[in-house]
Formats: sequence, C-alpha cells, structure tokens
Amino acid sequence: MCGIIGYVGSRDCAPLILEGLKRLEYRGYDSAGIAVFDGTRLKITRSVGKLANLEKALREKPLSGTVGIGHTRWATHGKPSEQNAHPHEVNGIAVIHNGIIENYVDLKAELSAAGSVFKSETDTEVIAHLVDQEAGRGKGLFEAVCAALRRVRGAYAIVVVSEREPGKLVAAKNASPMIVGIGDDERFIASDVPAILPYTRQVMYMYEEEVAEVTARTVRVTDLHGAEKTREVRVVDATPAMAEKGGHRHFMHKEIFEQPRALMDTIRGRLSADRKTPLDGEMPGLSVPGAVKIIACGTSWHAALIGKFMIEELARVPVEVDLASEFRYRDPIVGKGELVVAISQSGETADTLAALREARSKGAHALAICNVVDSSIAREADTVLYTRAGPEIGVASTKAFVTQMAVLFLFAVRLGLVSGRLDPARAQALVREFTHIPSLMEEVLRLEQKVQDLAREFMHASDFLYLGRGINYPVALEGALKLKEISYIHAEGYPAGEMKHGPIALIDEEMPVLVVATRGRSYEKVLSNVQEAKARGGRIIALVTWGDARTREIADRVLEIPDVHDLLQPFLTSVSLQLLAYHIADLKGNDVDQPRNLAKSVTVE
Ligand code: AGP
Repeated sequence: MCGIIGYVGSRDCAPLILEGLKRLEYRGYDSAGIAVFDGTRLKITRSVGKLANLEKALREKPLSGTVGIGHTRWATHGKPSEQNAHPHEVNGIAVIHNGIIENYVDLKAELSAAGSVFKSETDTEVIAHLVDQEAGRGKGLFEAVCAALRRVRGAYAIVVVSEREPGKLVAAKNASPMIVGIGDDERFIASDVPAILPYTRQVMYMYEEEVAEVTARTVRVTDLHGAEKTREVRVVDATPAMAEKGGHRHFMHKEIFEQPRALMDTIRGRLSADRKTPLDGEMPGLSVPGAVKIIACGTSWHAALIGKFMIEELARVPVEVDLASEFRYRDPIVGKGELVVAISQSGETADTLAALREARSKGAHALAICNVVDSSIAREADTVLYTRAGPEIGVASTKAFVTQMAVLFLFAVRLGLVSGRLDPARAQALVREFTHIPSLMEEVLRLEQKVQDLAREFMHASDFLYLGRGINYPVALEGALKLKEISYIHAEGYPAGEMKHGPIALIDEEMPVLVVATRGRSYEKVLSNVQEAKARGGRIIALVTWGDARTREIADRVLEIPDVHDLLQPFLTSVSLQLLAYHIADLKGNDVDQPRNLAKSVTVE
C-alpha cells in the first residue's frame, strides 16, 4: 500500500519527508513524489521507480520550505508512471492518497463535464479536483476537503496542502491507516509510525471519516460535517525496525493478520449495491467460455485448484488446472473460445508468464489475477483482476493466496449469473455469507494461542501428513507447502480418500496427521479416514467446525473454526494452517520471512 507523510513546522522539510518515505518503503511502491511550499508556490517533484530516483531529482533541483507532503505509490488505478505518481495538483492544491475511491469513475465524468481537465489515470486526482471545485465555491481548505469527501465512497488516507493557506495541512482518513505526530512546534502526518519515530513518539490516531486541520502548533479534528472530535495523544513504544512490521515479529505474521483487511480491500467496489453482479465494472460484456484453464505455480496453483471447485459448482463451466511449468512444454490443447486464467501474486513468475504467452499464441483469451499492478503478467493478459492485498513481503504467500481465492469466488459468481446457471437468490445468499468472512477470519486469528500450543507439541516431527477432501484437498496441499517452505519439515498434502491406496503405510506414532474435517458434503467420509489413520497409531490433529463433538472423540488434538458454506471454508481452514506453519517455523528459530533457498518471485525457469 502507499506511504504518506506530511510536515508543518520550522524545519526545511524536503529531506525529512524523503527520510520518512524511506522508512515506509516496506509498504511497497513503484513511484514517489513530494510537494513543498517554498514561500510563494507549491513546488512538486515526482519520479517512477525507487526513492533513489526521487532523491536524484531533488539533488538536481532542490525544494526548500517548511510545509510539505510526500508519497510512495503502490499502483491500484493507472500504471506506475510520473504522470500517475502523487502528489496530484490542481490550481495550487496538492493531494496525496492511500486507498481506493470506489465511485471515482462517476465523479470523474461529473467533474470533466464541469470543465475539469485530468492529467492522470488515477482515482486520486478526482479528490484534487473535488477540493478545488469546493474551494472555488468560496470554502476554506478545511471545509473544502470535508465537502469533497462527503461526495466520495471508498477508502482513503489523504493529506492536502494549498498555496492559498500554506501554514497548514488537512488530513483525512477512512479505512486506510493514518496518524498525526505531535512534535515541539511541529506536526507530522503519516501512514504509519516508522516515518516519524526519529522526531516524536507522541501520536494521535485518527478514526474513520475524520478530518484534521494541522498547523505547526495545533490539531483540530472533526467528522466530515464539522462536528468537533477530541483525540487523545498516545506515546508509542516502538523501535523503527519493529514499527516497520507494525509491532509483529515477522512480515509473514503481519500479513497473516492483515488478511481480513486485505479481503475487504479485494471485495470493496466489486459488489454492486444489490450484491447480485460482482465485478460489474471490471468485466463488462463477459462472455461465458466453453471451458476455463487456470495456470499457476506454487501457492497460486493451490488457489487455482480451489477456484476450480467454485467455478464448476456455481457456473457449471469445466475447469482444468495446470502447473504453468508443465502446461508450457506440453504443446497444450487450447484455443479460441477458451479462457485461460493466469494466477500470480508477483505477476513475474517466469513459468506462468511463458504459459500465458503460449495460451495467447494459440488464440485463447487471457485473464490475469495478480497482486502487482502493471506487472508483466498483468500487462500481457487481455483482462486483469487485481487482488489488492497490498505488498506481500514474506516469501511464504498468505494474504495474496486468500485474496486470489476471493477474486476467484467473485468470478465464479459472476460467470454463474451471466450464464444463467446460478440462481440469483442463491448468489445473493452466498455473497452475503462471503462478506462475513473477514470477521469470521478474525475469529480464527483469535485461536493463535491454541495454535501456538499445537506448534510447540508437534514442532519436532520430521514428517507431516495433511489430509482433506473436496475443496479442502487443495487446502491440505497449501497447508503442507506452508509448513515445508518455512519450517523445513517434510510435509505432504494428500486427498483423504486416497490414503488407503498407499500412503497409509507411512502412518505410525511418529507421524502427525493433520486432517481438515470441517462439516460439509465430505464430512462423514473424512471422519472414517480419521478413524483409519487413528487405528494405525497416527497422532491426529483435526481442523473441525465449531461444536463438532464426534471428531473430538477420535482425534488427539482439535482446532474448532466457524461453520461456513463448503465453498467458503478454505478462507478459514487455510488461515489456521498458515498460523500453525508460522509458529512451528518461529519456534524452530527459522528465518520465517526469508526461508532458505526461496525467492519471493521466481523469475527464472
Ligand atoms: C508460496 O508461499 C511460495 N512463495 C511460492 O509457491 C509462490 O506461490 C509461487 O512461486 C508462485 O508465485 P506467484 O504467485 O508470484 O506467481
């Protein structure tokens, strides 16, 4: 997600803003920019790529002043470019923004019709024009920002500065993080604590739909209608290193706990008001393909396997899932009328990119599901659905995986409705249940202490078996991969029904068997698989639905999670297994974020 910093005080602020942006680099970005009031005008410098490029530009053409704003952009709307980089300026009013404005298309049309001229592809620029329009109606900067935001729907953390009122910054937040730092005759605004820690530990946290007018000595907070709010100032107890991880020991842990928010960001703006036609704005005129092929690698391949269940059940379209590294060398049978979906967090995985090119060369329509805007796979596909998980720093994929499943679920519902094979009432009920997943995921995350106890008990095993049936079979594969890649314990995911065809020979007292035994259409069968494994002396850890007393009688250890529709269970079961893998690896003292031999993006074949 983007990094934001603002300063008003007596220091020469350009170097301070640049340093602050560097401390927010972990949030991921692909362009950056800064605006400083030099006593007469707002001066703006923006650059694409790393902060070093912005730093170079500032060395060549320094900016000097005591009020300014800075931004690192992680592209969501509009490719990474200088034109799309923040700040966006209109008539001496500059804006930086982290978030997604859901109704920007309508607002942009309205503003353009009224004469606004847009210079970028971003949703953010709409805010600058709205504030300018309101200021043009005689409002002061603070009131203009409040009025502008009353017309906006979506997530935002913004800071606005104006040449006409240079001694102040106006900040506002909704659903995106923002804090105000209190210094001696100076104030700071930032996305996160690391940016301001060298200057102050006194922080004021803003809440949803609040606006702050900030000068060197004052902070005034109101809601969008001007009703005053009092906000306490807290002293944060964090080192810069810890703060980068938001207080978490590892990025992976932070990203596991970010999943409810990441899911909400993925869903945001993709469910039309009547919740009947997901992805309305992004897949206009979607025709129903004769067949769907999904290509991916690793964890993304597991998401693809789960997507197969969703699409085949809801849209009744046959889905073939292929490892990209196999697909590309098999002279695959694919062509016109077929849809090939490439799933990739990084959008740079060499095998997936090559497989996508192969499919397109044979005439297939290519849809990419990516987390990085304007990545190679996103650029080369015909259509892109972004997962909006925010940058995933930990090598082991977690929030990207969960948001891939979310996009696949919305896509399956959309296909089902467009094809007429999914009853609208059923779709509406499913989507309504789906919107509760983020809060149910919070329930699962509250089981962390229990998971930690399990990790302590089983961390010395040399081999693990993960079993599941139906949609929880790929969950078992993913759970085993998570354990393998960060704890270095050999783990195998297997279809529970296949045990008796060989692998059951492996089971003895030394072998922990983790069974995904949540209530659903395969429950009874899985229960008998649990009994088979138990009868051979296996140590059974069962992932079950709340209140399942039957499995508790057989398994050695039980983890109970909320009950949801079969198709939605992977959102909760996979998070449980992420936590287990994380804590076993952490207890073993492994480098959880950078496991040996692994890279975050496998750009080699
Ligand atoms: C998953 O935890 C691994 N980091 C790895 O399997 C990863 O999913 C795979 O390399 C695919 O990466 P991509 O999603 O960026 O294409």
